[in-house]
Amino acid sequence: MAVDRTDMRIIILMGAPGAGKGTAATRLVDRLGCRHLSTGALLRESVENATEAGREAAVYIEAGNLVPDALISRMVVDEIMSGDSGLFLLDGFPRTIVQAEILQQTLASVGSSVAMVCNLDVPRDVLISRLSGRLVCPRCGDGYHVVTLKPRREGYCDRCDIPLVQRDDDTMETIIRRLSVYEEQTAPLIPWYEERGLLWHVKGDRQIDVVVAEIAEKISEYVTDDSL
Ligand code: AP5
Repeated sequence: MAVDRTDMRIIILMGAPGAGKGTAATRLVDRLGCRHLSTGALLRESVENATEAGREAAVYIEAGNLVPDALISRMVVDEIMSGDSGLFLLDGFPRTIVQAEILQQTLASVGSSVAMVCNLDVPRDVLISRLSGRLVCPRCGDGYHVVTLKPRREGYCDRCDIPLVQRDDDTMETIIRRLSVYEEQTAPLIPWYEERGLLWHVKGDRQIDVVVAEIAEKISEYVTDDSL
């Protein structure tokens, strides 16, 4: 039987690389118990599993470029359409206006729409220092920072207790490339969603608990249904 999607509420977390989308999303999921999709994590998993999509995506990710719109949109639509309805947090998608249009059309076709878009604003120097000091858990994907968000036991994931690693695309050269790709291709989504009355800004260079509390409060203001 087809799942009723009219009560699906899509919340988009946007922001430059290093803005804290993944860190905030993990905490929001723990807090709200909603579904979550990180396109970066989905792609890294496909690369690791050497799927056809993963093999195609690897070249782009390694260079700090965006993967083609058609490839990532197909993966996201499949994920959204599988599983339960209700509150769904999208982290890292859309990243171009073409992707935003595909998302809008897909949701409209099942009687749903984007509920709100949260843009995490963080100055460039903070983004660079966050990305260059980031450590991630290879199992659960939780992110830490060597200075600002240390794990309880140095070098080990709080949740999985296994050694943390640095992401392959967190080299300085790729970080700079990702930031410029963001400015060219993703930042234009800010006015695009503003014009549609969906975007609100969150100051992302504050303590993570403060950032997450503000987003969670805003989500509960916008989304008033049983999924919260
Ligand atoms: P993706 O994995 O999405 O990378 P990104 O956008 O570059 O974002 P990051 O994951 O680097 O940063 P984040 O905002 O999640 O920050 P985080 O929470 O980790 O995508 C990777 C690649 O996949 C892309 O380059 C592209 O090739 C491809 N891709 C993905 N989606 C795509 C799409 N839609 N279209 C095309 N291609 C796509 O935080 C960073 C650091 O800061 C961490 O160390 C964290 O501990 C720390 N930190 C976070 N918040 C705080 C805080 N409040 N205070 C102190 N420290 C903090």
